[in-house]
Amino acid sequence: MNIKQLLGQIVSKAMVAAGLPEGTNPAVSNSTKPQFGDYQANGVMGAAKKLKTNPRELATKVVEQLEPTLVASGIAEKIELAGPGFINIHLDKTWLAEQLASSAQDEHLGVSQRTTPQTVVVDYSAPNLAKEMHVGHLRSTIIGDAVVRAIEFRGDKVIRQNHMGDWGTQFGMLLAHLSDKLAANEVAETALADLENFYREAKIRFDEEEGFADRSREYVVRLQSEDADCMTLWQQFIDISIAHSEEIYQKLNVTLTREDIMGESAYNDDLAAVITELTEQGIAVEDQGAKVVFIEELANKDGEPSVFIVQKSGGGYLYATTDLSACRYRSGELKADRIVIFTDARQAYHFKQVETVARNAGFLPEHVAYDHAPFGMMMGDDGKPFKTRTGGTVKLAELLDEAVVRATALIKDKNPDFTEAELKEISEKVGIGAVKFADLSKNRTSDYIFNWKTMLSFEGATAPYLQYAYTRIQSIFRKANMDSASANTTPVIVEPQEKALALKLLQLEEVLDAVISECTPNLLCNYLYELASLYMTFYEACPILKDGIADDVKASRLALCTSIAKTLRQGLDILGIDVMEKM
Ligand code: ARG
Repeated sequence: MNIKQLLGQIVSKAMVAAGLPEGTNPAVSNSTKPQFGDYQANGVMGAAKKLKTNPRELATKVVEQLEPTLVASGIAEKIELAGPGFINIHLDKTWLAEQLASSAQDEHLGVSQRTTPQTVVVDYSAPNLAKEMHVGHLRSTIIGDAVVRAIEFRGDKVIRQNHMGDWGTQFGMLLAHLSDKLAANEVAETALADLENFYREAKIRFDEEEGFADRSREYVVRLQSEDADCMTLWQQFIDISIAHSEEIYQKLNVTLTREDIMGESAYNDDLAAVITELTEQGIAVEDQGAKVVFIEELANKDGEPSVFIVQKSGGGYLYATTDLSACRYRSGELKADRIVIFTDARQAYHFKQVETVARNAGFLPEHVAYDHAPFGMMMGDDGKPFKTRTGGTVKLAELLDEAVVRATALIKDKNPDFTEAELKEISEKVGIGAVKFADLSKNRTSDYIFNWKTMLSFEGATAPYLQYAYTRIQSIFRKANMDSASANTTPVIVEPQEKALALKLLQLEEVLDAVISECTPNLLCNYLYELASLYMTFYEACPILKDGIADDVKASRLALCTSIAKTLRQGLDILGIDVMEKM
């Protein structure tokens, strides 16, 4: 359930009953301090200003209307009027406990399922296959995957689209180089074992070796005309490069599969038609041999339209052309209600251009939402873009391996008694989890500093802290000698720490809805960190297994523990982070 939404509906009705116009925003939000209640409705003030009446008097009328629906019905313990017209709502402990008990029985932990599911097309990861995946694609991959999992958990349908960069002129030089290697009896897998190196070699030959640049251009032409031999070579290259990416997806615990790949090349056959349509509609015009759209909507301060090239003068197509075709495919064939694209912020303008042109051309009907979700860069300790010590791009595979090595040392140090198998499993979950959480917990649009020490710390908002909180709950159940699933009584909420926990647990849906609409997994990270911290405080204040604790109190607190563990586990799973029984 979404408590905020429920209260919003109730307050709305009360506002209408108090004489306010239908549709007045109740402005319900989480209270900033416990003394202001659990939620507050601040809408009266805005409404009073509009109506030029006294806000406090108006709020009094609304509170009167709220008494029977909120207090007498048992949802709230009390409602208070504060300041110039704030309405503070203190939820009832028994009501919270009942909601919690029914959520605990539900496989979606009380998160309601959409009755009319939307189709959301999510474009994420999208590495360029000419090179190895680098840290920029880490962000796209894991932020995208977390949002995808959140959408699915809420009951909407997701169609993943891995818009891989598998086409373009740079493949000419790569294929020329590959064909030479094969002619010299090298096996493609070996030749392409290190894509970064392979690219560098090809580039050096392109710049320095006589005749090689010309051969590369011939390959481009052959590729564009889909010459059979050339396509076989290209396919070999692509397959091996995809396999590199898949290795990383597996390490990263992301849900992308081969079926989700819809690379740039998949749109080749449609590009000519896109240009024809744009030209016929008078949207694209000839300009110095190229086809260009002058976008008036995006004109600069001097009134000059934005220039968007959709076909080069030699007839070649561009990244822009493919993205226009993708708009048409996603809304037309895939029947998307919403399209979300995750790339770094430098592409923001490109997607604004794409959207404007696609809307004007009818490739993207008005009812389809088009959201570009940009993200900032990952920086090194020096505050500059994250690079290797020698200034090269950091390979994602190596970064992840290092995370596991560091986690292994850490876990071994804390628990020298783990078996090799335990150590391996736990270190992988902690190492990869740490890298992911550190990234996902940051505000998406800002740059952030990558730091091994903070992300692997057991204190603060980190994956190890959350994983540790989970294992502590598991150890309580081991000590109590019971299965956590059997702790399913309706809790009795007495202590403030218990109430705070119950409320937090019931806010999962609220958080997920924000994660989904804003594409901000950091809100879920925050939520889980707060939940784990509340658990730690509860654990200190409310003994569970101590002698002298009455059986019903013990059962109630164990039931709370079960809900916390389930929520931590599920929340981390949405982030693509695993938990373990001990660490
Ligand atoms: N391959 C691109 C890159 O590495 C990202 C593609 C994003 N999706 C899209 N429809 N353009 O920057």
